[in-house]
Amino acid sequence: MQNQDKKSLLKQYSKAIWITGLPCSGKTSISIALKKKLSKEGFFSVILDGDVIRKGINNDLNFSEKDRIENIRRVAEISKIFINNNVITINAFISPTENIRNMAAKIIGKDNFIEIFVNCPVEICEKRDVKGLYKKARNGEIKNFTGIDSVYENPVNPDLIINTDKLSIDDSVNKIYEFIKNIIKLNYK
Ligand code: ADX
Repeated sequence: MQNQDKKSLLKQYSKAIWITGLPCSGKTSISIALKKKLSKEGFFSVILDGDVIRKGINNDLNFSEKDRIENIRRVAEISKIFINNNVITINAFISPTENIRNMAAKIIGKDNFIEIFVNCPVEICEKRDVKGLYKKARNGEIKNFTGIDSVYENPVNPDLIINTDKLSIDDSVNKIYEFIKNIIKLNYK
């Protein structure tokens, strides 16, 4: 158990909810809906999302293995700062390898790291192609695209698996909430 200031404004245990999965698997949609659900239930969280982070603080990084590691190293450090300030973080990053996710867990602290695998067959992700990036990858306009010519390793031992080819966003969020609610709830005696 982490130390919790009982007079803290935020009556919650802060954890990193780490959402990993292929492009277009549903990470961003789930993050936004999960944040709404958490606030409705009285929890405060922030979203750290790959697309947003890569447009801003990490706009110097590309999609080589080295830069993906650096991307996740930085966001894990940011996540850790929030967690140390009692804020729950929802992290939506492809974070494609076991190595990268283990590094994030190590930086954040394994006890504070909840790994959620958003599992969706690559063919379905490619059909969704919300940003048209799979198409560009197929045409050779983008290199090292995850799921096409860059690896995604399924998590070996995730805390929770969400099959977004079968579940709606709302059902996915409810499943995540049921799993995390007792971990983040601060009970007063
Ligand atoms: S990670 O691999 O370093 O964890 P991250 O989640 O931050 O990736 O960023 C992924 C987002 O960047 C995707 O949602 C997509 O919009 C965009 N993107 C652009 N190029 C690529 C690429 N080559 N591979 C994967 N995503 C890419």
